[in-house]
Amino acid sequence: MSRHVDPQATLSGSLRVPGDKSASHRALMLSALAAGESTIVGLSRGHDVASTSQIMVQLGARRHDEAGHAVVEGPSDGLRASDEPLQCANSGTTIRLVSGIVSGLEGRHLLEGDASLSRRPMDRIATPLGLMGSKVRGRGPRVTPPLEIIGSSGLHGIDYEVPTPSAQVKSSILLAGLFARGDTVVSEAVRTRTSTEDMLRQAGVDVSSEDRGPGRRVTLRPSRPRPQAWRVPADPSQAAFFCVLGVIHPDAQIELLDVEDAPERVGFVHVLRRMGADLTQAPGASGATLTARSSLLSSTEVHAREIPSVDEVPVLTVAAAAASGVSAFRDMVELRLKESDRFEGSLRLAEGLGCRVWSDGDDFFIEGLGSSRRFQTFSFDAGLDHRFVMSSAVAGVAGQGCDIEGADTVASSYPNFFDDLASLA
Ligand code: S3P
Repeated sequence: MSRHVDPQATLSGSLRVPGDKSASHRALMLSALAAGESTIVGLSRGHDVASTSQIMVQLGARRHDEAGHAVVEGPSDGLRASDEPLQCANSGTTIRLVSGIVSGLEGRHLLEGDASLSRRPMDRIATPLGLMGSKVRGRGPRVTPPLEIIGSSGLHGIDYEVPTPSAQVKSSILLAGLFARGDTVVSEAVRTRTSTEDMLRQAGVDVSSEDRGPGRRVTLRPSRPRPQAWRVPADPSQAAFFCVLGVIHPDAQIELLDVEDAPERVGFVHVLRRMGADLTQAPGASGATLTARSSLLSSTEVHAREIPSVDEVPVLTVAAAAASGVSAFRDMVELRLKESDRFEGSLRLAEGLGCRVWSDGDDFFIEGLGSSRRFQTFSFDAGLDHRFVMSSAVAGVAGQGCDIEGADTVASSYPNFFDDLASLA
């Protein structure tokens, strides 16, 4: 589906973006793993999270919705293999975390994805899960989906250093560790988001974390999670689109409510402030309130370790395009392995806006135009990548409008994005 976005003269308002996608996946999984009923308030309504929900039901959990929140009941005798393929659609978090869970369930599991997911490497989970005693097979040396997993009731814990820091890989191993004999230890050289450790701990599982320089070591002693009343805060990675929109737009004030403010998630706030953004953060009832106001931005240097998982880089390239001077994005190799090649896409987007762009190995550079009002009208094919739909829309609204090909893919994380955007005009 193609969608036209018009520029807007003034933007103002207050939003609560959807529930954090990472916490939503995990709330569903931990509830399904527990014996009895859990409730989830603020669950993301995106298609990625719906895939996880559907898979938990296939594996034996029950789910219904009550007064706007989800109720999930895990079977007392535990989850079990499904005869049908587990459909992960566009969601990397679903396939990697579910792989960890089904590794501990006896039987053969088939995990499928859409064209985007079918290009993403699963060797990074196949190796550690294999060391724990399950078998994960996919296509080619990078083990791309569809995956066939032979789960085992005889998994054993491992002590594993994740070669490329990844919250999904860490989480996949920890979830498999719930079923293993002995402790599971996962080390990461850079601290990635802690949703899995934090939520396992909340559900009564013995998990300890120890900082080691810029990294961390997490130890899990296996036990069954207990049912919980989960509250999911607003997703900082979704708030990031509106923060960038507020600061690059010449006449805007946008307030984002209840945003999760874990240090691994708000690196983009520090980057934008360094660029001169008027972006304030105040404690709110259940998370932070972020307020973004029109600002004159100047260039900066962004390193991947500041934004673990690099989810906010596409929209930060739009901020760089509006800034004066040349911004450098360093060590961005992981961008190539997301829902699309976001390294190439970020350059293509900034170029479409009229910027001079170039790359050197894993680094890329954007020469900003000094104001979003200098952006050109542009067309962008978002492929199957929700974050490029939203990044393009931000640039179109603040600049001179745009056409977005593949705009419906926004529903994988934020089905009401265009309504929320319109509410600010
Ligand atoms: C996620 C981890 C991330 C991120 C994704 C969500 C998660 O990837 O890109 O949007 O919920 O664990 P990494 O595994 O690269 O950290």
